[in-house]
Amino acid sequence: MADVQTHDLIILGAGLAGLRAAIEASRVTQGNLDIALISKNQLMRAHSVAAEGGTAAVLRPEDGDSLELHAWDTVLGSDFLADQDVVDLFVHSIPSEILQLDHWGIPWTRRSDGRIAQRPFGGHSYPRAVLAQDKTGFFEMQTLYDTVNRFPRVQHYNEHFITSILIENNTFCGLTAIDMTTGKFKVLRGKALIIASGGGGTLYGFTTYSQTVTGDGMALAYRAGIPLEDMEFLQFHPTGLVPSGILITEACRGEGGYLVNNKGERFMHKYAPAKVELGPRDLISRSEMIEIEEGRGFEGPDGLDYIHLDLRHLGAKRINEHLPLIREICIEFNDIDPIEEPIPCRPVAHYSMGGIETDIKGATRVKGIWAAGEAACVSLHGANRLGSNSTAECLVWGKITGEETGRYCSEVGAAPPVPEAMVQAEYKRIYEELLSQNGEENLYQIRRELRTCMDAHAGVFRTGDLMSKGLEKIRSLRTRYQNISIQDKNSVYNTNLYHALELANLLDLAEVTLLGALTRTESRGAHARRDYPQRDDANWLKHTLAFHTDQGPRLDYKPVTINTWKPVERKY
Ligand code: FUM
Repeated sequence: MADVQTHDLIILGAGLAGLRAAIEASRVTQGNLDIALISKNQLMRAHSVAAEGGTAAVLRPEDGDSLELHAWDTVLGSDFLADQDVVDLFVHSIPSEILQLDHWGIPWTRRSDGRIAQRPFGGHSYPRAVLAQDKTGFFEMQTLYDTVNRFPRVQHYNEHFITSILIENNTFCGLTAIDMTTGKFKVLRGKALIIASGGGGTLYGFTTYSQTVTGDGMALAYRAGIPLEDMEFLQFHPTGLVPSGILITEACRGEGGYLVNNKGERFMHKYAPAKVELGPRDLISRSEMIEIEEGRGFEGPDGLDYIHLDLRHLGAKRINEHLPLIREICIEFNDIDPIEEPIPCRPVAHYSMGGIETDIKGATRVKGIWAAGEAACVSLHGANRLGSNSTAECLVWGKITGEETGRYCSEVGAAPPVPEAMVQAEYKRIYEELLSQNGEENLYQIRRELRTCMDAHAGVFRTGDLMSKGLEKIRSLRTRYQNISIQDKNSVYNTNLYHALELANLLDLAEVTLLGALTRTESRGAHARRDYPQRDDANWLKHTLAFHTDQGPRLDYKPVTINTWKPVERKY
């Protein structure tokens, strides 16, 4: 029924975290570890290539930056929901990753004295975003890809769709997969798994994410019994290009760009007098929405009203040297040259602060399973991530989980046997039940409604009423999902089937997100409730955990690690 392929370590996801993990696991085992690197796309099409602005790291302590300052900025940005031991590990670990990438050949942008350049980013008190033009993620991916290819025992599984995680006796045994090129069912058996398959941003219609990012790893882990943490905290980036949603990097403001309303005012002076356009993302997104709601925005298509991001005063030379991709995007997609015209932007779904619950080293509650990067919630970002801390997180926890799993695989015996009954049940679910569905519901219509619902009911500003209606809608979509039809019955590249599987993942994540958000009766970071506008540390200084049950998510909570800074009012 299923081909079984056995490896030591399986890495689900081949973006920054996955590639970095593969390199480290290979390195600590002197290249002896047998690693499967899985992507549902071609490997270099991971969404990490779309990261633009930079990677935060302290490189210049002699010039006023410090690890403590980076940690404080991150904790304050998180609205005190970040675990402070995790933040401490992060800020200590990222500088050497920057140098490591330098040694592996990344073309970091340089200052005129030849040293690695850094630029300002929102919420950071020092210009500490290391950059490779405005294509940082692309160059980081390229560098890691070149490096991973030096290890012949890393086997690439491109175009493999994972349908379930096999766990027995609370121990990882393997994954079930479909080879998308043939439609064949496979079992990938292994000793250890790292889930590094990214976030869940296509829960929303207006999003910076590539359409391929559907939260698969998070949903698989959730259904396999691993809790999701803090999923109600979804980041809205302040500058999504209208109407496509393409990311217009925060580096535009780091380079000196202005946010301007329809009266020509730089409105951020009102909301963040000290930081202005370089405030944290949650605050800037809320400020933009207030400007738009109070009639100081510009009318956009399909309700996508916007404000202006003005770069004209930066001049052609600076834009061409530091923001060439942004200029190209604006010209290609909007027929606007930012050297001469302002860019239409509004808040856009960009990043999941929440994810698969892990400990500080990326380990989950299941023996043999780790998670890293955006798929994980190691609790670095809390309620609001600072820009340029995410590529940094991928590098740091890619390395840590690679090291941990490399060691684990060397110490543990053979991979556990394949749990045959589970594999058979999964085969039946996909090939006999799902694929043969001929119901009346159109899955693409359900997907559209899901995204419209999340845009409208779980956006920048939320209320209990809006979210209850949203949750009801998502639950009705789940019921309708039972009656979808898969019209394509073929084996080769059956995207109709994969879209159905992705939709099931998105429905699970939407339900967890809305339930967590509805239950959290406070405002903190990116979770801004108009009916509970204050942060409530007495009741809500805690992480949300969502456990899968047949009746829907069951919520539980766990404390935040606060070992250095007690919560204070956030001021920018
Ligand atoms: O604006 C940006 O370039 C995005 C960076 C990030 O999300 O960290």
